Amino acid sequence: MKAKILTNKGNLFSEIDNRIYGSFIEHMGRAVYGGIYEPNSHMSDSYGFREDVKELVRELNVPIIRYPGGNFLSGYNWEDGVGPIEKRPTRLDLAWQTIETNEVGLHEFFNWSTQVQSEVMMGVNLGTRGIDAARNLVEYCNFPAGSYYSNLRIQNGQVEPFGIKTWCLGNEMDGPWQIGAKTADEYGRLACETAKVMKLVDDSIELVVCGSSISTMPTFGSWEQTVLEHTYEHVDYLSLHMYYGNPENDIKSYLAKSLDMDRFIKGVVAICDSIKAKKRSSKQINLSFDEWNIWYHTLESDNTIEKWQKARPLLEDVYNFEDALVVGCLLITLLKNSNRVKMACLAQLVNVIAPIMTENNGESWQQTTYYPFQQVSAYGRGNVLITKIESDGYDTKDFLDVPYLESVVVDNIERKELVVFAVSRSIDEQMEFSADLIGYELTKVIEFSSLYGFDLKQANTSNQRDVRPKNGGTADLLEEKVITILQPLSWNMIRIGYK
Ligand code: AHR
Repeated sequence: MKAKILTNKGNLFSEIDNRIYGSFIEHMGRAVYGGIYEPNSHMSDSYGFREDVKELVRELNVPIIRYPGGNFLSGYNWEDGVGPIEKRPTRLDLAWQTIETNEVGLHEFFNWSTQVQSEVMMGVNLGTRGIDAARNLVEYCNFPAGSYYSNLRIQNGQVEPFGIKTWCLGNEMDGPWQIGAKTADEYGRLACETAKVMKLVDDSIELVVCGSSISTMPTFGSWEQTVLEHTYEHVDYLSLHMYYGNPENDIKSYLAKSLDMDRFIKGVVAICDSIKAKKRSSKQINLSFDEWNIWYHTLESDNTIEKWQKARPLLEDVYNFEDALVVGCLLITLLKNSNRVKMACLAQLVNVIAPIMTENNGESWQQTTYYPFQQVSAYGRGNVLITKIESDGYDTKDFLDVPYLESVVVDNIERKELVVFAVSRSIDEQMEFSADLIGYELTKVIEFSSLYGFDLKQANTSNQRDVRPKNGGTADLLEEKVITILQPLSWNMIRIGYK
């Protein structure tokens, strides 16, 4: 089988906003307690945060982390998580039926995120709360000093404002499971008025308004339209959430799920732009794909986990090789839509549907999905180039002509390198692959790394971590071309230097 990509020097599709490599920490499961925070662990710093986990997060190069939820957000009082820890209330978290001790709150999370070199994407509760709590939180976080909430922040030990730039107006407010779920009109009005006052406190912030919880919601489309009708001039991004899985154990269809993500994104862009036209607005709404991942391994088993304990071990999906290939396809799809997807969050980061796992008081380790994310986040910086893909395709029950080759090219101008990310969806045939990089004076292949050759169901565990990229073999440079073989069912990264 043969496949080819072609691009031209300077053929700019989009400048990548690095926040496309964001992630998510929710107060749920063992993400916070037992994940990033474990005061009794010998690996923890003096504040109780695990050093080994910090290191793994840093290696992922995550520029922004959404916090504190998720469904948790819709019942959360942010005030519970500030002030002296011993005075903080223990609450029932109704979203995940868990005991929340509030040992970790705003200050602790902000300090942790600074140490892992990430910004915080903060959510305001529009489920049980509203305008007042939201404006107070912005004042607490971002107002320099001299007002009630900014003084309270200073009294609680943070003199400099946190300076949080990006804010989510609630979470999945269309979902019937959401605490305080709303109709599109109810939410649209509330989001509009909340956005107004948050920006009155700090007009430098950027706001993300809720889109549909998943693309299959019955209200998808009309939800986005109505919400944007209400909020268009007051918000900056519309959120998308989507999780995929392979419950039917059909690898060909599973690998084609990224086409669904592509269709979802393009559909939402079309809706945003139709409202722009209708409103005769000059403003463009961009997208925040602030929850995406694979989530299906634990859907049934989670029902058996005892309720009302602290840090119930929920959503601890263990990812295998095929999941890593799909994550690779999803990452490529986000990049291919990076003209409009400016932020995205791999949901989540530690223990809960996460690339990083920990044992209580034990090891931390990388899941299979850690690696494609790490490589794209480390090297997929700069510009996405307009690229033509020539590949045969196959049909699935959902899509016709799914290309065997999924690929994108990033021009990392600072490093002077072109980075080709590619997934071969071919099940058993090798792919003769060429990349025509027209107009570039190519110097050498810096790295050809590949994830291939594993059983589709092979996973990593704390003591068996074999599913990781290895050398992909030889890649030859022929003037403006790179030629190599891509192995069947493989994730690949080829870095090529240029003058
Ligand atoms: O990421 C897990 C959950 O998925 C989040 O809490 C919610 O927003 C989504 O439904």
